[in-house]
Amino acid sequence: MLENIQNVFIAGAGVMGSSMAQLFAKCGYQVTLYDVSEQALVKSRELMEVNLGAAVETGRMSPETAQKIRAGIGYTQDPQDFARADYVVEAIIENMEIKKKFWSQISAIVKETAILTSNTSGLSLTEMAEAVRLPGRFCGMHWLNPPHICPLIEVIRAKETDEETMETVRAMALDIRHFPVTLNREVPGFLVNRFQFAILREAMSLVESGVASMEDIDNVFKYGLGLRYACLGPFEIADLGGLDTFYKIASYLFADLSDTGEVHALLADHYNNGEFGVKSGKGYYEYADGRDKEMIAYRDKMFLKVSDCLYGDLNQ
Ligand SMILES: NC(=O)c1ccc[n+]([C@@H]2O[C@H](COP(=O)([O-])OP(=O)(O)OC[C@H]3O[C@@H](n4cnc5c(N)ncnc54)[C@H](O)[C@@H]3O)[C@@H](O)[C@H]2O)c1
Repeated sequence: MLENIQNVFIAGAGVMGSSMAQLFAKCGYQVTLYDVSEQALVKSRELMEVNLGAAVETGRMSPETAQKIRAGIGYTQDPQDFARADYVVEAIIENMEIKKKFWSQISAIVKETAILTSNTSGLSLTEMAEAVRLPGRFCGMHWLNPPHICPLIEVIRAKETDEETMETVRAMALDIRHFPVTLNREVPGFLVNRFQFAILREAMSLVESGVASMEDIDNVFKYGLGLRYACLGPFEIADLGGLDTFYKIASYLFADLSDTGEVHALLADHYNNGEFGVKSGKGYYEYADGRDKEMIAYRDKMFLKVSDCLYGDLNQ
């Protein structure tokens, strides 16, 4: 555990916050989960019981660890409780006004030494920091879903963030057995979404121009690139491939890649039709008749298998 940090407060008991709470508690921190909605707190606790029960039943977690996690998490709706916080992760709804209101209130209650982080997916941290009292102690701590399985954390410096804050957040990520990467200044999409959307733009461009089907493009990742990127980054892959070869390919290929600034019809049309993917039963593929649940179960099962192979006991 990090010196001087005992009480971790997580704001927002939703998809992200509930999973983070479990992780911090497993690593020995005293966690308080805060939400404006009592129903969200009840749901979060129920969800955690289901997860812990399943983890113990399948032998992935000992009953003692499950008990330690249960005992390590408290629940509150009272913002005044933040006076005890040494470290805050904000994972509330993705809305700048609501987040600013939250930070304006909470940063006036917490100790001056508390470290304050936001899990925003892409809102400007520098703008958010305008609402934070003593903004040197505030930065981005962007997790990937599901946080207890996916070990990457982007640590993002807002304009006013102190170096000491960046170091503490990186140290915290390591302490909870995650892998921090640092953004020395914020850019839209941070790192992960810039890569994710560069790939999606090219994929949509190829489907729209009839070069390949969606299924075959998905297969390129599942049976080819995914294996590489699970183990190596683009610079390592280029070094292994040979920079002479990569230079020659880049010389003719870069000019041919999609650089459109428009959102492709292949995304906009689904959006306008209310076809949002798994959550609405239809997106690029169909998820009726239980396919939605099957898809989520498949993802979780495969992520855990890969994660076990690559990162060993992270999920134990
Ligand atoms: N879901 C993802 O895949 C993902 C990945 C990375 C980052 N994020 C980011 O994490 C944050 C939370 O996302 P989520 O998917 O967990 O959302 P969610 O909708 O599941 O949960 C949000 C929770 O915040 C609570 N809330 C709303 N306003 C609040 C307030 N003022 N004070 C306290 N609680 C409040 C809601 O009651 C709800 O329980 C967002 O900023 C999101 O962009 C999400």
